[in-house]
Amino acid sequence: MSRERESIGVIGTGYVGLVTAAGFAELGHDVHCVDIDAAKVQRLRDGEVPIYEPGLADVIAANRERLHFSTELAGALEGARLLFVAVGTPPTYSGDADLAAIYAVVDALPKPSRNGHAIVMKSTVPCGTGVAIQRRFGEQGKESFGYVSCPEFLKEGAAVEDFRHPNRVVIGDDGGWAGDAVAALYEPLGSPVVRTDISSAEMVKLASNAFLSTKISFINEIANVCEAVGADVGEVARGMGLDERIGPHFLRPGIGFGGSCFPKDVAALKQLAGNSGYHFQLLTAVIEVNELQKRRVVAKLQKHLGSIVGKRVALLGLAFKPHTDDMREASSLVLAARLLADGAAVRAYDPVAEEQARQLMPRGVEFSASALGALDGANAAVLVTEWSEFCELDWDAVAQRMTGRLIVDGRNALDPEAVRRAGLSYEGIGRR
Ligand code: UDX
Repeated sequence: MSRERESIGVIGTGYVGLVTAAGFAELGHDVHCVDIDAAKVQRLRDGEVPIYEPGLADVIAANRERLHFSTELAGALEGARLLFVAVGTPPTYSGDADLAAIYAVVDALPKPSRNGHAIVMKSTVPCGTGVAIQRRFGEQGKESFGYVSCPEFLKEGAAVEDFRHPNRVVIGDDGGWAGDAVAALYEPLGSPVVRTDISSAEMVKLASNAFLSTKISFINEIANVCEAVGADVGEVARGMGLDERIGPHFLRPGIGFGGSCFPKDVAALKQLAGNSGYHFQLLTAVIEVNELQKRRVVAKLQKHLGSIVGKRVALLGLAFKPHTDDMREASSLVLAARLLADGAAVRAYDPVAEEQARQLMPRGVEFSASALGALDGANAAVLVTEWSEFCELDWDAVAQRMTGRLIVDGRNALDPEAVRRAGLSYEGIGRR
């Protein structure tokens, strides 16, 4: 429990905002959440949790009396010294981050009636945004607002635990009271705290996500080479990961990374560098490898099936990773579109993400209420998202349902022997 009970504001009730709000409420603080989406605010007031995030509903329910939901920014400002900003910064066509929602908040903030308010930036923003916002505050006569950059590193699907046990908390400020106040909020979590300037804090977030994306594209390329030379990428990753300098994490090959952060942040960092006159060549390759990786599955299907025109392909899993219903930049979107364009019929199943997927999937994709339903009459199946229920499938039952024999394991999550024992043929990513 934190020593002093704060009243804080959280603007934006998406993944980051809601988890942050729930986490601080659990630490004993009063949290005023603001969102412009009145329907969402009403659902939250009614006790509903509008996103799928394991454990979040329980934390919200257990700390309900300390969580307040409203569409009114001014109300949150009255009660709170620190206003956490967690609104979306989606990519624009140019690859730059779209800061419209951030500036809408900055501009809408009323002139504080007294000193001692600060905004704490949780949204991922390009380096230099904090300085630009401080300038904007100055132009609007709101210079008494403090500014802290406190980037968020939580992973969807594990966000509640990540809030409780962050690897590190990064706090960028220019030496005023607000940085210390944010540090005090996080102190009970006992994690290492990196205190730095605003621009460096912004850069830590972009560089971390770009580095992790680079690791994934790297191991994906190694997997592709393994396929060509007859090595096994799982063994290679194991051998590499034991080197402490490399580490075992983020060396899982697959059909590409997705989600709300990696694709956007890699593009944003590349663009940020480009805007400053630096050509970040490595990131260009990271992005390209990721795009090609999603499409390689089609070539695998063609290798086994010949033409895929008129063939039925089952997609097992649609979300960008398990334990989330998030479909943003999910590899399944590109894969389904490619398969349909090449003349295949696609039937998909995801245990959680169907509602989100229906809004984004290309027209023509059929949805099934179960894995076996999606596999019924399929010539081939592709495991897209490694939900555990797919790893536990009864492969004899699968073989009976399918017309064809091919299982493409896009996440190297299945037991190849179990699949083959049922008379099916197994193809992974860089797996011997
Ligand atoms: C990521 C960062 O991990 C987090 O710190 C940041 O705040 C937000 O972005 P998230 O997008 O929730 O979190 O998912 P993550 O678990 O990191 O996975 C991202 C993508 O990479 C997924 O599509 C996943 O399937 C893929 N991935 C991850 C791989 O393909 N291989 C790996 O080894 C690891």
